[in-house]
Amino acid sequence: MEQKRAQWGSRLGFILAATGSAVGLGNIWKFPGKAYEGGGGAYLILYVAIVLLIGMPCMLSELAIGRASQSNMVDSFKRLGHKKFTWTGWVGWVAAVVIACFYFHVGGWVLRYVYAYLAESKEVYADPLGFFYGALGYDSVTGASRFPWETILFAFLFTAACAYIIIRGVKGGIEKFNKVGMPALFVLLIILLVRSVTLHGALEGVMYMLKPDFSKINGHTLLSALSQAFYSLSIGMSIMVTYGSYLPKEDDLEKNTLVVCVMDTLVAIIAGFIVIPAVFATLGSESVGKGGGFAFVSLAGVFREMSGGVIFGFLFYLLLLFAALSSCISIIESVVAFLTERFGWNRTKTTLVSCIILFLAGCLYTCSQAAFDIKGIWFDFVNGITHPAFCDAMEFVTDRLLIPLCSLGCCIFVGWVWKPESAVAEAERCGKKFRMAKAYSFLIKYVAPAAIILILAVSLFTGTTLS
Ligand code: PFF
Repeated sequence: MEQKRAQWGSRLGFILAATGSAVGLGNIWKFPGKAYEGGGGAYLILYVAIVLLIGMPCMLSELAIGRASQSNMVDSFKRLGHKKFTWTGWVGWVAAVVIACFYFHVGGWVLRYVYAYLAESKEVYADPLGFFYGALGYDSVTGASRFPWETILFAFLFTAACAYIIIRGVKGGIEKFNKVGMPALFVLLIILLVRSVTLHGALEGVMYMLKPDFSKINGHTLLSALSQAFYSLSIGMSIMVTYGSYLPKEDDLEKNTLVVCVMDTLVAIIAGFIVIPAVFATLGSESVGKGGGFAFVSLAGVFREMSGGVIFGFLFYLLLLFAALSSCISIIESVVAFLTERFGWNRTKTTLVSCIILFLAGCLYTCSQAAFDIKGIWFDFVNGITHPAFCDAMEFVTDRLLIPLCSLGCCIFVGWVWKPESAVAEAERCGKKFRMAKAYSFLIKYVAPAAIILILAVSLFTGTTLS
């Protein structure tokens, strides 16, 4: 039974939803630390170039596959007459499933901290690391472990919020949420930016971000910026194919891609100008870091040092919450779209059952952080089979293998099999000329696949972490 496919209600609706997907924790807690390591302004220049030359063609290709096939990621290749590429769809879908498992829980930690800055800021300030460990079920004084049920409860609430939005549908749920969530996120960004750059001593951080120090750029920085661009633009995880499939035929793919990439990059850069000057002004430049430990532990020291820190801390975690929610709903939508379309299942029941299963599987992620010693599995050609902590294994599998592999499949498919002309024709359906068509064809055929092969090779053959 063929159901009528959902569509975005407006072009703005799509842009806000796709930007919401792209703007996530990657922009706020990964990008600033990477920009600092990569020489501030020098990294910004490098990153913008990568987004333009590699990120944009890859995103446009995924949107074109989605809109042309009018299908979820797994079935899209078959719909376009190339069943052999269905493996790419599966890799992207599995990436979405694994990421969703742990993002539900990371979203739960963020919600936990929104609450903490409202009600328990004294406890956070007294011992930021102890508080963080405590939230993950580990008592840093006695060394005792327990099931972190409060944090799991917050993750459950976060999951429930995602499920609710997905059940309301593409237009009535995802688009509606992002129409409020994205403007709110931008307002929060501006408030935090103004606070940060007006702190006494912030100027040094601002200058660091503006002055390009090219001596910090090396092969590793380049590859790390490349993998950051894929993650940040939500490429290689089946999201953009799914979101593209809800685009009306008259929408301009070239312009939409440009706007989403610019917005995502802008948010990352603004986050850099919030985090770096604030750390320089309070704890000193040597405290700049990245990832969850930095966002939850080090930044508590930053907020403690500034006047009005509790309020700004609360606003910062609220910002993270909006970013996490809008990203998470995009990934759940990709998981659910496949299940409902392939098996004809009911959207509400499928969403509920998938969210429950993914949430339960993700409990292992939170529990393996500090409370329990749960091991995962990983393989690379340097270290062979290893058993990293379960949480790390989940991130290794997605960042180092599934996302690059899915992106590579999409590039090869569009560049060499479906052909760039088909993607260009899809982009020109709106009646407007695809002005960068020639450059696009070259980049998607040669440059993007070469870059992804490099990421895969370095991850697998040198065992290096690029995230
Ligand atoms: N673009 C997102 C980010 O930068 O955080 C990546 C992402 C992660 C998208 C998790 C969706 C998701 F559920």
